[in-house]
Amino acid sequence: MNRPDPQTPAHHHNRRAWDALVRENQRFTRPAPDEDFLDPLAKMDGVGWLGGDIRGQNVLCLASGGGKHGALYAAAGARVTVVDISPAMLELDRQVAAERKLDVRTVEASMDHMPMFADGEFDLVVHPVSTCYVPKIAPVYQEVARVVRDAGLYISQHKQPGSLQADVTPARRGYELVEPYFREGPLPAVVGSQHREEGTLEFLHRWDELLGLMCRAGFVIEDLVEPKHGRADAAVGSFAHRSHFVPPYVRVKARKRGSVSPGRRIQLIAP
Ligand SMILES: C[S@@+](CC[C@H](N)C(=O)[O-])C[C@H]1O[C@@H](n2cnc3c(N)ncnc32)[C@H](O)[C@@H]1O
Repeated sequence: MNRPDPQTPAHHHNRRAWDALVRENQRFTRPAPDEDFLDPLAKMDGVGWLGGDIRGQNVLCLASGGGKHGALYAAAGARVTVVDISPAMLELDRQVAAERKLDVRTVEASMDHMPMFADGEFDLVVHPVSTCYVPKIAPVYQEVARVVRDAGLYISQHKQPGSLQADVTPARRGYELVEPYFREGPLPAVVGSQHREEGTLEFLHRWDELLGLMCRAGFVIEDLVEPKHGRADAAVGSFAHRSHFVPPYVRVKARKRGSVSPGRRIQLIAP
């Protein structure tokens, strides 16, 4: 299906914002360090969702520019394509790939519009935190469902809505919810938050959008984890302290439903 390009002013804003974050050498724009390449798959898949071997798999690293995800999956033996909206983030992927002699294809595109890819082209789509940068999440899931093959995996990480609602600075008894859960438009600009990226436009997606829309796009959720960043003894107001009250992220393992033969269906529920 040929869908119209859904790019909005927020897309253009975030492209410029991420290019600027690269120029400022901010976090998430730094390539993977040498030690991550000792066991690249273990680094990227600490939970063990990928079965310990992705050699030869066709992997889409979605909204993954920055010289980390693409390089590590390629070092683990996958055939890697990195998609990102920011040319500067993709340039980092090309630099790292050249330095480490890895084969990484880079494509400048928005995660909700990837007409350059064929239906079912990828075995696996990995998608680090970035759905917060698009106003609507349904077109993203529809595109991922289209480009991943039947029974292929979609591993994604998202900002939890509660974390986007909670104040950056602590109140007397914890972190107050200062943003409504049901809201329209981007979140207010933030300064000094380790949970948000300054200069970007971010959107809160509710649980019924994060998970319900994923299911409705054609995925079955097989597992879900909340990566632990909190520490009870952390300094009040620090990233680790706030994360002890409000988990910042959720990671989801989903598999594309497909028209499967009875034999394959058994494989789907008992991988
Ligand atoms: C938090 S970074 C993820 C990759 C990062 N290297 C990391 O270590 O997690 C978020 C990425 O999303 C990208 N991005 C933002 N909006 C996008 C969109 N609409 N389509 C594709 N990529 C987008 C940004 O350019 C940025 O590279």
